[in-house]
Amino acid sequence: MKIAVLPGDGIGTEIVAEAVKVLHALDLKFEMETALVGGAAYDAHGHPLPEATLKLAKESDAVLFGAVGDWKYDTLERQFRPEQAILGLRKNLGLFANFRPAICYEQLVAASSLKPELIAGLDILIIRELTGDIYFGQPRGRRTAVDGHFPGAEEAFDTMRYSRPEVERIARVAFEAARKRSKRVTSVDKANVLETFQFWKDIVTEVGKEYPDVELDHMYVDNAAMQLVKAPKKFDVVVTGNMFGDILSDEAAMLTGSIGMLPSASLNSSNQGLYEPSHGSAPDIAGKGVANPLATILSAAMMLRYSLNQEESAQRIETAVKKVLAQGLRTPDIYSEGTTKVGTVAMGDAVLKAL
Ligand code: IPM
Ligand code: MG
Repeated sequence: MKIAVLPGDGIGTEIVAEAVKVLHALDLKFEMETALVGGAAYDAHGHPLPEATLKLAKESDAVLFGAVGDWKYDTLERQFRPEQAILGLRKNLGLFANFRPAICYEQLVAASSLKPELIAGLDILIIRELTGDIYFGQPRGRRTAVDGHFPGAEEAFDTMRYSRPEVERIARVAFEAARKRSKRVTSVDKANVLETFQFWKDIVTEVGKEYPDVELDHMYVDNAAMQLVKAPKKFDVVVTGNMFGDILSDEAAMLTGSIGMLPSASLNSSNQGLYEPSHGSAPDIAGKGVANPLATILSAAMMLRYSLNQEESAQRIETAVKKVLAQGLRTPDIYSEGTTKVGTVAMGDAVLKAL
């Protein structure tokens, strides 16, 4: 089992170190190789996704990824910005299926900005299409407008597009996932306005006929954003496009009280995957030893489950994390009165001990 370890920027190095520590404590044999990515790679090699890093990722079974980005790169030309590394990995590895669970841990109910009764027991799985939509659609760019409200003016444009096979395969991923859960899928679209998403809705409906045991409903994205804060527990599996999934997954993550707890997986058709916490590089707390490593540790568990076929070890890690929370240990992002505040390394050590 070969794992590419790409810590990246900001808190990335601190949190990935804890996940690696946990992986080493399992009775499994891994080959792990670390490489630079994001701003760190740009500083060292002039590119956020150097050839060597991409090659390592491609020849590994899985990528354990920290986070990329820092304000100091915001003025770089787009192709050199840290975010291009993650977009490049998604594109080059064909990681079209993004799993973003939003689970509210019993002990953290109070950390949510919503009323406890709305989120206690929350367990949503957002499945975001990750290699299509307006994120990757061509053409895009800047030009002089030839029509529109201001012909002759400077304008910018992106292209929202989905092909039939792209929608079919992500729909199947969602229906299959739902079969292992409560057999419900909500497909989120904007079919009332966008051609692309009427097409999306039609195809998801078609594919849904192959899964008569799974209940399918459709929701417009604006309503979905509202329902997520009104009655989040009504959702189970949510499937949507790249851009809507980007936005809704942040919203769903925050419902749970801490984005610092949520892992994610991005898979291609051969189950090669990239695993990363749902949160970002948090440059404001980088190097201070206070970042929450649990989302990354839980991402390592997802990696064991989906790409490395080690379900038992995945569950061991998840159980250890729950134990540590039950012991009352909290990094500052999930701290509440009556619990014990710990730093990044102490949290990692506690998970090790619980293992
Ligand atoms: C995410 C992030 C990325 C995205 C950025 C960093 C390119 O927000 O993984 O959700 O927009 O997909
Ligand atoms: Mg995002």
